[in-house]
Amino acid sequence: MAQSNRRSNGVPLPLGLAAALDGWRHLSGPLYLRLSAALAAAIEAEEILPGTKLPPERLLAEQLGVARTTVAAALEALEGRGLLERRQGRGTHVAGVHGGQVEPRAADLTTTLQRNIIFRRLGDRSADSVDLLGNPAPGPAARAAVVAAAQAVDFDGLMTDNGYFPLGYPPLRRALAGHLTGAGLPTTEEEILVTAGAQQAISLLAAYYARPGASVMLEDPTFPGAIDAFRAAGAHILSVAIQETGGAPGPIAAAMTDGSVRAVYLMPTYHNPTGTVMPDAVRRELVRLSARTAVPIIEDASLADLTMAGQPPPPLAAYGRDAPIVTVGSLSKLVWPGLRVGWIRAGRSMIAQLGQVKAVADLGTSVVSQAIAENVLAEARRLQDLRRQELGERLAVVQDLLGRLLPDWTWRRPRGGLYVWAKLPDGSATELAQVASRHGVLIAPGAIMSPTGRFDDFVRLSFDAQPDSLREGLRRLAEAWDDYATAVRDRGARRIDVIV
Ligand SMILES: Cc1ncc(COP(=O)(O)O)c(C=O)c1O
Repeated sequence: MAQSNRRSNGVPLPLGLAAALDGWRHLSGPLYLRLSAALAAAIEAEEILPGTKLPPERLLAEQLGVARTTVAAALEALEGRGLLERRQGRGTHVAGVHGGQVEPRAADLTTTLQRNIIFRRLGDRSADSVDLLGNPAPGPAARAAVVAAAQAVDFDGLMTDNGYFPLGYPPLRRALAGHLTGAGLPTTEEEILVTAGAQQAISLLAAYYARPGASVMLEDPTFPGAIDAFRAAGAHILSVAIQETGGAPGPIAAAMTDGSVRAVYLMPTYHNPTGTVMPDAVRRELVRLSARTAVPIIEDASLADLTMAGQPPPPLAAYGRDAPIVTVGSLSKLVWPGLRVGWIRAGRSMIAQLGQVKAVADLGTSVVSQAIAENVLAEARRLQDLRRQELGERLAVVQDLLGRLLPDWTWRRPRGGLYVWAKLPDGSATELAQVASRHGVLIAPGAIMSPTGRFDDFVRLSFDAQPDSLREGLRRLAEAWDDYATAVRDRGARRIDVIV
């Protein structure tokens, strides 16, 4: 684990800067040139984003354990190359935007992915860390089901066709229609588009609804992949608090009624990251509003199979056939993300149009995956029961450990899904995530789940991991919290010293 950027009193460098400077001393040449080379590389690779404010020279020197003159010389060299901007009274910023404010550029995937530690981590498996971000390898039941489903695929039969199915492999479309009908939402094959996971479903819908500059409404907090997808489509994101209690869904109703939003994206069952369920009265009201205003609601039901208490409610679309409600689902959380099989359920003509957009993206999801998925779906009910039992046991482990190791954190038992959404008593979750990563455990800070950058006092912890990993991860997290909370207290004390 890298310890080189630890400051003597433990206060971490800003997120991004610490990672970028990891190992800078191992470069060659005078210290100031090594430091400026490491910073330059990170700025050019956008590991540190335009507009990022650097800590003052004195603090940076203290944190890196070098003389202030070394830092000053390195920053001067970078300013000379146009990579940093230094202005009297405003401090030092990475060049590229004015005013030190980073407005994520629409459709700039590099920028959005940089922010989303969950997606970034998918492309980097090298670190020996416990991953509480989510997406572990599937358990034995899902593995056995996928292996059996793959063995049952008739490859010879499949290969009598070219295998391009932009709308989806017909037998899988039929099987998915049957699956949704069984869940209380009568559906026909023509109302299904098979996608490469729910993530592609959201991206296709973002492209379908959100012209650049159009507004869409998302819950705050929400699934970060949806924030990224709507931003990538150029949409302007309006946010609304999650609807946890009954009564009129005020801001959503207002936005739908005055026509200021093109679409609303929600996770009524089970909400990621909070694990809540939208009350029945709110569901009915939203569906009524959607029918009256013709503003579509996208329900992301990716976690809907994973209940921790009772039967999940039916999808929103089951509450009213006249409303333009689009349902997104996936086999990732029930079976295996590696299948890359998700779906969109919508009206026939919309599905036909989306099929054309999907064809442009990839000409269709792999027919091999789809044939396996078709076979696995026959086992869906049994897998749901096993998965619920597995997740219930894993949640119990995390609840117990949180209560014992992190007693001053507050959280509510999720009603379903994969995550505990925990509130810190103090400090910044972004900073804690950085300290935790140095302790060998990866957690998602709340702010990346917020279109407005709020919730930096929350962390999202996945409880979907082997119990041994959960125990080790929580132990490391408690150590990280000890270190970090002490640093926060020291920082507070120093501030008070200065004020006095
Ligand atoms: C709410 C939600 N939607 C969509 C996805 C994307 O999943 P996939 O593309 O693997 O189906 C996830 C994955 O974490 C999720 O939690």
